[in-house]
This record gives sequence, C-alpha cells and structure tokens, in this order.
Amino acid sequence: MVFVCVDDFEKKAHSVLEKSALDYYRSGAGEQYTLNLNREVFRRIRIRPRFLRDVSNIDTRCKVLGIDLKWPLGIAPSAMQKLAHPEGEGGNARAAGNAGSIYILSTLSTMSIEEVAAAAPDTNKWFQLYVYRDRSLTEQMVHRAEKANFKAIVLTIDAPIFGQRRSDIRNKFSLPPHLHLANFEGIKADGVRTDEEAISGINAYVSSQFDPTLTWKDVAWLVNLTRLPVIVKGVLTREDAVLAREFGCAGIIVSNHGARQIDTVPASIEALPEVVKAVGNDLIVMLDGGVTQGNDIFKALALGAKMVFVGRAALWGLACNGQKGVEDLLSVLKKDLEITLALAGCQKLSDIKGDMVAYESTYAK
Ligand code: FNR
Repeated sequence: MVFVCVDDFEKKAHSVLEKSALDYYRSGAGEQYTLNLNREVFRRIRIRPRFLRDVSNIDTRCKVLGIDLKWPLGIAPSAMQKLAHPEGEGGNARAAGNAGSIYILSTLSTMSIEEVAAAAPDTNKWFQLYVYRDRSLTEQMVHRAEKANFKAIVLTIDAPIFGQRRSDIRNKFSLPPHLHLANFEGIKADGVRTDEEAISGINAYVSSQFDPTLTWKDVAWLVNLTRLPVIVKGVLTREDAVLAREFGCAGIIVSNHGARQIDTVPASIEALPEVVKAVGNDLIVMLDGGVTQGNDIFKALALGAKMVFVGRAALWGLACNGQKGVEDLLSVLKKDLEITLALAGCQKLSDIKGDMVAYESTYAK
C-alpha cells in the first residue's frame, strides 16, 4: 500500500495496535467535541493563494530557539511509545533527527532520558516535564535532561490532574507488565496512593506524585533552576500567555493536549491568534493539535506560529513501521508542506503572511 497522507498511516495503525493501546492513543476527553474541532477548524480556514511569484526554489528551513531545522514541524511529547512499537521513543527520536526536526520526549516514556539520548544522539531533543509534589524528583529529572544534552524544558501546564478519557476507563487501560515508565525506575516511592486515579495508564506512584497545587510561582522556580530555556505547553488564553512572559518563559506551545484534558476548550488553531497578538513579539509561539496536513502547517504559520508539532500522527507512523514508519510519515508531511508553499505562492516560510488565510465566515455572506 502506498501511504500518501496521515490518514493512511492511521488506518494501518488501527489494524496493528491492540484495542486498548489504540483507544489510549486516539481518545480525547469527554464527548471528544474538541478532539474533532482540532482538525475541523483547520478546514474552516481558507488559503488565499498568490500566483506568478516564482516558486522554483522552495525553502522550508527555519531557526527555533537557536536550533537550525529543515522545516517547522516537530514531534510532540506523548507517553508510552513502546506501546506502538518496540523501537519506542528511540525510534521516534531518530526519525525526527533524520528529518531535521525536533523531538520532545515525554516524562512518561517507556525509554529513559539517558536511553533516548544514547539512541538518538544527533537529534535535537527537548524534555517535557511534569512537576511533582516531591520537588527533588522534579529537580533530578531536569538535571538528567540537561546532562543528556536536551536543549529545552517543556513544562506541561494543562495537566494538574488527568482528563477523563472514557474508553481508557472502560478498557481499564494500564501499561502492560513488560513495559515500564523508565524515568521513574529506581526512584523511591514515598506516600504511594493506589486509588482509581491510576486509571489512564499512569501507575499509582507517578499519578500520586503529580502536583495539583502548582502555580506560576513554580514556573519562576523552574526557570531559575535550569540553564535551559523553559517552554510552557498548554496555553489557550492571552491571559496565560502574558503570565508566561512575565514569569520568564522562552516560548509557548498553544495546545489543548490533543483534546485529552477538558472537552469543549477551543481548538488550538482557534486559540492561536489571541496568544500571538498578546505575546508574539516577545516569545516564540508554537502550536500542536490536529495537524495532519501541509496546509495545516501553512495556516498555523500564517496565524503567527513559528513551528508546529504532531502527537498522534507520529504514533501512527511508529505503529506502522517503527523508526522507518515515522520517517515515511514525516516525509509525506514535508512534501505536502512544500507543495502547499509552492501553490500558495511562497518560496520560503517568511513569505507566508497573515492575509494569505481567511476564515470561512469571510466567504459565507
Ligand atoms: C499526549 N500528549 C502529552 N502531552 C504531554 O505534555 N505529555 C504527555 O505525556 C503526553 N502524552 C500523550 C499521550 C498520547 C497518547 C497523546 C495522543 C497525546 C499531548 C501531545 O503532546 C500533544 O499535545 C497532542 O498529541 C497534539 O495533538 P495531535 O497532534 O495528537 O492532534
């Protein structure tokens, strides 16, 4: 079968993944209204192409936080990637590196920070962090990431607790016994709680360690703790964007966690313009959520994002064929972006302007 779009990878992934893993990957919170919205709203934005502008040389290169990239798409952090394929996070990270992209490692990974660093030494890697009740545990994670040559800390702010994904509850989803949350190996478990919060695949210890008391003060603490730039992931409002600037963050990922936390929040692409307007001149603003096509990347950039990330799409690639599957998926997306740029009249990313997109409502008079 020839894979020509993300949906082809997804279809194949559906046939190879166990039901509970598939449900864990694909689900959103609640009725999954926002899950659908994440993709749908991209469709409601139209591209206003310009022609006769010499598009013989398409250049997708960009620089993000001092890192040279071949194109403005990276891989978002997602938990437990060995559920998709034995190559897990290592394979996914190598694929990102070979594509000239960035890989964000989830804290809740099935390979440790050090294992991923060894498996993909040449990939530009960022580390996604949750803050734990035990601050020394958080400090250890940050320092391990620094030592392993990760280049930024991505603090996820939208998960003080985990959202309710109905199929995970129905499936009683948990990590199969042959896999483990590798970053927590050998860490002493104080005050273990073994209640139903462990549902959603996080073992009881880890979920009991998540700190719901977290506030922006802790962001200031983290910014102080590390020499790496801190990026906050999960911003959906101008108010939080302004706070991210105030508390010393280097960047923002506009995200609703793949619609896995609260249902009926805006699609990421809906929230993007207000964040860009509020802080876009001061901080680097990026986006994830619902990106499956080159024209989605184009629209996010036109609305002010400097880079986008894919979560599930990479998991589908990984499930299909490990590292090679992710490489194939990324090359489909990159080609699609190049074609979109050429057909919209842009040689390079800086040619993409805000007036090259318009909302559906502009036309529906
Ligand atoms: C996630 N996401 C996520 N985010 C995070 O900060 N830490 C994590 O451990 C995880 N884990 C996770 C698991 C799975 C299965 C999914 C699908 C997602 C959210 C992820 O980083 C990203 O925000 C979304 O996946 C982006 O949306 P799309 O590309 O999946 O539509």
